[in-house]
Amino acid sequence: MMTDNRLLAALTPQARNEPDSGIIRAAMHGFTVPGVIPLWAGEGTLPTPEAFARPAAEALLRGETFYTWQRGIPELRAALARYHTRNFGRPFDDDAFYVTSGGMQAIQTIVQLIAGEHGEIIIPTPAWPNLAASLRIAGARPVEVAMAFRNGCWRLDLDRLFDAITPRTRAIALNSPSNPVGWTAGIDELIAIRDVCRKRGLWLLGDEVYARFYYGEKAEHRAPSLLDVCEDDDQLLLANTFSKNWAMTGWRVGWLQAPRVLGPAIERIIQVNSSGTPAFLQRGCVAALDEGDAFIARQVAEAREGRDLALRMLGEIPGLRFEIPRGAFYLFFAVDGMADSASTVRRLIDEAKVGFAPGSAFGPGGEGYLRLCYLKDRATLSEALSRFQSWMAVSRPS
Ligand SMILES: Cc1ncc(COP(=O)(O)O)c(C=O)c1O
Repeated sequence: MMTDNRLLAALTPQARNEPDSGIIRAAMHGFTVPGVIPLWAGEGTLPTPEAFARPAAEALLRGETFYTWQRGIPELRAALARYHTRNFGRPFDDDAFYVTSGGMQAIQTIVQLIAGEHGEIIIPTPAWPNLAASLRIAGARPVEVAMAFRNGCWRLDLDRLFDAITPRTRAIALNSPSNPVGWTAGIDELIAIRDVCRKRGLWLLGDEVYARFYYGEKAEHRAPSLLDVCEDDDQLLLANTFSKNWAMTGWRVGWLQAPRVLGPAIERIIQVNSSGTPAFLQRGCVAALDEGDAFIARQVAEAREGRDLALRMLGEIPGLRFEIPRGAFYLFFAVDGMADSASTVRRLIDEAKVGFAPGSAFGPGGEGYLRLCYLKDRATLSEALSRFQSWMAVSRPS
C-alpha cells in the first residue's frame, strides 16, 4: 500500500504544486457556514431563463444524447455568427466559431494551441487566476505584469507590458473589461497592442466574456473589442462564454473564435479534451443567442444598479479605496491596514456571514484588496454590504 505522500509524490510537479484558487478556497469554506451571503463568485442570483432552458430540456428528453460535432452543432455556430454580426456591425462566418465546455475550456484550448512547453504568455494582473494556472499545468509560463492603482485609477502601462516580451513569448493576453478590476481597454490601447503583436508575430489572446457589462457614458451596448481593430487573418484567439450574459454559469458552455485555417487543429484538441459539448445543451444556447437580448439588457441594468449601490455603501466605510469600474460586475477595493486578504475573507465569512474573494487570488498587485460581485438583487446586496459595514465598524482586517 502506498502512503498518501508517496501517491502525491508520484504526480507531475505541475499537478502537485499548483496552488488552489483563492476564490474557490473562499467559496468552499463559505459553503460550510450557514447563512453566508456569497459575493465571491462571478454570477448573479437569477437562474437561467426558461426560454433558454426549455429547448435544452426538450432536446434531452427527445433523445439528443449522442456524440456530436466536435466544433459544435451547425445551428449554434450559425447563431454565434448572427449574434456577432448584430453586435459588431460586420459579417461573421459560422466557421470562425467553436463550441467549448465553458469559457474555461476555450482558454485551455487556446493554451494547448499556442503556448507549448516553456512558452510564455504575458498577462496583466490583477487577473482572474485560471489562465495563469492552465499555463503552469501545461508546462508553460505566465508572465504577469502588474497594473498600477494610482490616483484612484487602474492603469495598464503599455511600455511595461511590451518590455515583458522575450524570445519565448507566444501571446499577450487581454481581459477587457477585466475581472477583477473592471478596467476596460480603449480603442487606442487595443490598436497599440494589436500593432505590437503584428510586428512581433505574437498571438493576441482576448478574453471578452464581460463585454456586454459595460457602463460607458453613451449607453453603448458593449465595450470596445479586439474585433473592432483586428482583421479575420490576425493572430487573434478569443475566449467567450454563455455563463455571464445569459445566466448560464452551471451549463459549462462557451465558445472560441479563431481564424478559419485553425479549424482542424482546434477540432483535434476538442476531441481529446471533451470530445464535444453536449448537443442538447447547445440547443438552449441557440435560444439564448437569438432571443436573449432583452434578458442581457435587464442583467446589465441590474449590474449597474448593484454597482451604484455598492459604491455608495462602500463609500460610507472609512479606509477603503476603489475605482468606479467601467465594466464587468465586480468591485475590487483596497482595505487600509489589511495584509492578508485570504485570512480577512475567512473571518468575514465566519464573523460577518458575508463572502468576498481575496485580492491575493488575482496575482501580483492583488494583495491588500477584496473583490465582491455586485450582480445581485438589491435586497441581497444591501444586506451583504450592511453586514460588511457593521463588521468594519468594530473589527480590524487581518
Ligand atoms: C475573465 C474570465 N474569463 C473566463 C471566465 C470563464 O467562464 P466560464 O468558464 O464560467 O464559462 C471567467 C469566469 O469567471 C472569467 O472571469
